Amino acid sequence: PTLLVLFGGRSGEHAVSCVSAGGILDNLDRDRFDVVAVGITAEGVWLDVGDDTAPWRLHGREMPQVTLASGEPVALLPDPTRRELISLADGRRGETVATIDVVFPVLHGPAGEDGEIQGLLETAGVPYVGAGVCASAASMDKVVTKRILRDAGLATGEAVALDRTAPDLEPAERELLGLPVFVKPSRAGSSVGISRVTDWEDVPAAVAFARESDPKVLIEAGIAGREIECGVLQFPDGRVEASVPAEIRLTGAADWYDFDTKYLDDACELDVPAKLDDDLAERVREAAVRVFRTMDCAGLARVDFFVTDDGRILVNELNTMPGFTATSLYPRMWATTGVDYPTLLTTLVDSALA
Ligand code: DAL
Ligand code: MG
Repeated sequence: PTLLVLFGGRSGEHAVSCVSAGGILDNLDRDRFDVVAVGITAEGVWLDVGDDTAPWRLHGREMPQVTLASGEPVALLPDPTRRELISLADGRRGETVATIDVVFPVLHGPAGEDGEIQGLLETAGVPYVGAGVCASAASMDKVVTKRILRDAGLATGEAVALDRTAPDLEPAERELLGLPVFVKPSRAGSSVGISRVTDWEDVPAAVAFARESDPKVLIEAGIAGREIECGVLQFPDGRVEASVPAEIRLTGAADWYDFDTKYLDDACELDVPAKLDDDLAERVREAAVRVFRTMDCAGLARVDFFVTDDGRILVNELNTMPGFTATSLYPRMWATTGVDYPTLLTTLVDSALA
């Protein structure tokens, strides 16, 4: 089959998506798939970027970027009987670049992981890896996610959804949350726009910062607990399984798992698998599958938890297109579980085609 790998995009996670795509392009089984790589610029222009994966690697602190010079403009024809990627380049306008059998939308954050691209692919009639429109949209939005999970009886931390224009918390809300709090854009990823606040006076500035990513903001109580993540994978026969859980342990100066700690600094250790006793690990895996089913996901998700000292498992959030970079946990957790990176990718594409 011809597989379209879509990456980059208009979100604050553009560069992370490029690095994820680099990992995926390097690990796809080329005997199985004809691969077309399309990078989306930060402005939203689609470019056929060719075969070279070198630009999509992390070089020190330099994050890659799809620019207008990266390739030739293309568009997916919104015609479900044709599924064609067509050229928009001067002199070749309307020429078919490829007929697409399936898409791997390696896009993180809004305008990619939130149902927008999934809706476009539904319109174009092309199968794609991962969650559908509703599950993508609901899982991207932390306020909506929390409400759905709580309604299903899954435990989450305390949080307050700010009114769209409210600049600060009410006194009763402060009381409920306690310090520290995490101020977050409701729809973003990779910790973009998030602040850890230890003084109530700093909340309005943190809210303003979060609103640079999203007018919708939530404020969460800090949770004293271990940060545990778990991968969920759907096989082509429909079976849904959880990987071994992993733990993120901060080792450097960072006091939370922020963007730099995630991708740039050597400031955390990742235990794969997490050192949990068997019973607790099993409960985490069961909770991860429950979250996946509750949100009506498909294909894959990484579910992020806090596990408290008294053994409570609180869902922090989920990612319907988790990172696939060299330091990302999703492919590493599956490799440790016995599904190596190329097999993982083939499974995901086969599930999309099933
Ligand atoms: N949002 C990033 C890519 C992740 O969850 O891995
Ligand atoms: Mg997360």
